[in-house]
Amino acid sequence: MSLDNNPITARAHTNIALVKYWGKKDEKLIIPNNSSISLTLDEFYTETTVNFDDNLHQDIMYLDNKKVNSIKSITNFMDIVRNLSNINKFAKIISYNHVPTSAGLASSASGFAALAAATSKAAGLNLNDKELSKLARRGSGSATRSIYGGFAEWKKGTNDKNSYAVSIQNPVKMDINMIAIILDNQPKKISSRKGMKISVNTSPYYNAWEKQTTKDLETVKDAIYNNDFTALGKTAELNSMRMHSLTLSSDPSYLYLNKDSLLVINHIKALRDKGIECYYTMDAGPNVKIICQSKNIKKIKSELLQSFDEEKIKISKPGEGIKYL
Ligand code: PMV
Repeated sequence: MSLDNNPITARAHTNIALVKYWGKKDEKLIIPNNSSISLTLDEFYTETTVNFDDNLHQDIMYLDNKKVNSIKSITNFMDIVRNLSNINKFAKIISYNHVPTSAGLASSASGFAALAAATSKAAGLNLNDKELSKLARRGSGSATRSIYGGFAEWKKGTNDKNSYAVSIQNPVKMDINMIAIILDNQPKKISSRKGMKISVNTSPYYNAWEKQTTKDLETVKDAIYNNDFTALGKTAELNSMRMHSLTLSSDPSYLYLNKDSLLVINHIKALRDKGIECYYTMDAGPNVKIICQSKNIKKIKSELLQSFDEEKIKISKPGEGIKYL
């Protein structure tokens, strides 16, 4: 079969972890120390087209119409697919990110999930969701979960074969939304890869995190099955703060939150004092995601408008899994 001029396009949505992954036991294969749970979002996604071409002497990539010059992580990822499919051609990769790149809004999750889907299909592999999830994991841990819509769990496993994500519930039954406040769309100073390594090696609380996260995972899973929004929101917020306390307790200490993140947290506390139920979660960047039910979106938005411009406030519902376009 000739693979030339057979471009394949895939779309993957970002996911936000309700129970976070923080720390690897295998850096190269990206095997995590703890399992995690996420919600895939409809608002943020990546679309990627891959075309293998006999005339190319290396992979080339365009992201949002700009040529990407340092593509080592992409080439390494493409090598995994070339090995799996026994092909030795290079590819042209054209990607559009509908996510602020590298600001804790999981562009690496949707990016590597879309790349895994488009590349494997363009290479003639017909991977099922589990195989795709394992492949996406090799690009970025959080991408493991972006294969699925709705709620997904990345089962940590112990090796390349048994570390992958599964769907927990899709379509989602719970009335759940995430409001993202885009505070900073600059790439982060400390990558999650580097941050995790510092935490694992130096935070005296890392063992406690592993233990607690195992409990948080069960609580959130039960909350999903029981349609218990309160238990889900509370536990997701606590789990996020437990992750950020690892960054503070590391040596050297580092911090992803900024003063605007704290401002959002204060708004959320003010909303709760007024009886409006909502919770917050943050990843390896300053942006805050608010977990809420549909009936409260308007009130939460008008509170946030006191401090932030409307275009910084993005409302997401649960999103779908991988799609070929
Ligand atoms: O997959 P990475 O390297 O982008 O790491 C993701 C880490 C968190 O977003 C903070 C947590 C998670 O589980 O998504």
